[in-house]
Amino acid sequence: MARNKVTVVGAGNVGATTAQRIAEAGLADVVLVDIVEGLPQGKALDLAEAAPVVGHDARITGTNDYADTAGSDIVVVTSGLARQPGMSRDDLLAKNAGIVRSVVEQAVKQSPDAILIIVTNPLDAMCHVALQVSGFPRERVLGMAGVLDSARFRTFIAQELGVSVEDTHAFVLGGHGDTMVPLPRYSTVAGIPITELLSPERVRALCERTANGGAEVVALLKTGSAFYAPAASVFEMVESILLDRRRVLPCAVLLQGEFRTSDLFVGVPVVLGRGGLERVLEIPLTEEEQAAFDRSAGAVRELVAKLAAL
Ligand code: NAI
Ligand code: 2OP
Repeated sequence: MARNKVTVVGAGNVGATTAQRIAEAGLADVVLVDIVEGLPQGKALDLAEAAPVVGHDARITGTNDYADTAGSDIVVVTSGLARQPGMSRDDLLAKNAGIVRSVVEQAVKQSPDAILIIVTNPLDAMCHVALQVSGFPRERVLGMAGVLDSARFRTFIAQELGVSVEDTHAFVLGGHGDTMVPLPRYSTVAGIPITELLSPERVRALCERTANGGAEVVALLKTGSAFYAPAASVFEMVESILLDRRRVLPCAVLLQGEFRTSDLFVGVPVVLGRGGLERVLEIPLTEEEQAAFDRSAGAVRELVAKLAAL
């Protein structure tokens, strides 16, 4: 049986950590690409030299040449600038749009049947760039953000209640920005909505911390942004696709009427399988939740309009 092949573009913090997770799980051979010469080669060699100790046989290639990425099942795009303290995700728009455009153009020539997972910020807007440049159907262009934002919410809920993260589930929808929409009603501990377990004030505080989750890490690190939880989140999506697990995960996808939204990438619950986006799971929202979702979608729409004007 042919081995799965995953290309990770961007051998920085998120890219290299993602490559490590995929290889160490033995999920696929990994090709790590970067514009900087030597960087992907060095990290790939280092990762390969860990293999005998960790005990896996995944091949890891580092390269600056897209020819090496040919025939990838999945291409993960992490190339771009990371947020610095005081810099909003939106400040990154123009620079990262140029990077994502050039990377996707080169990657899809080599892997016309691949599924794209976009990570570069501002996330939802970069998904639009990837969709447009690739010409792929919406099923094969996905954005990673909701898994990360929900993981942060889960962490904070579990810490607050002193329970296992394993029994804690959460949904954060909307754009990957300050207007993201944590949904307490759909966030549960062993099936019990957190609204039954925590006061409205505490729920609000955890929602706010979640929406500020990326900035909280940036403020601590000072020279870059989060990468362990983002890489773990990409891994979860890659695994669900390659193993056709059909996990229900919040991902940025192009909405076509779902959640009263059209022609816009926004985070919603989806079923992820071998075909990429198998189904959007349209959960009922209250008017208040829908209004928050609409506000978040509006913020994404503004960015997409700015992109078009660049
Ligand atoms: P990083 O700075 O560690 O790595 C970025 C890498 O991209 C660098 O190695 C750089 O040389 C490479 N690169 C730049 N231009 C390139 C090009 N044209 N072709 C190939 N490689 C190129 O940054 P980090 O921390 O890995 O973050 C990467 C991106 O992911 C940022 O935009 C960041 O904001 C975003 N991000 C998004 C998250 C999400 O939830 N969607 C979570 C975490 C990060
Ligand atoms: C995060 O949420 C920077 O978007 C990135 O950590």
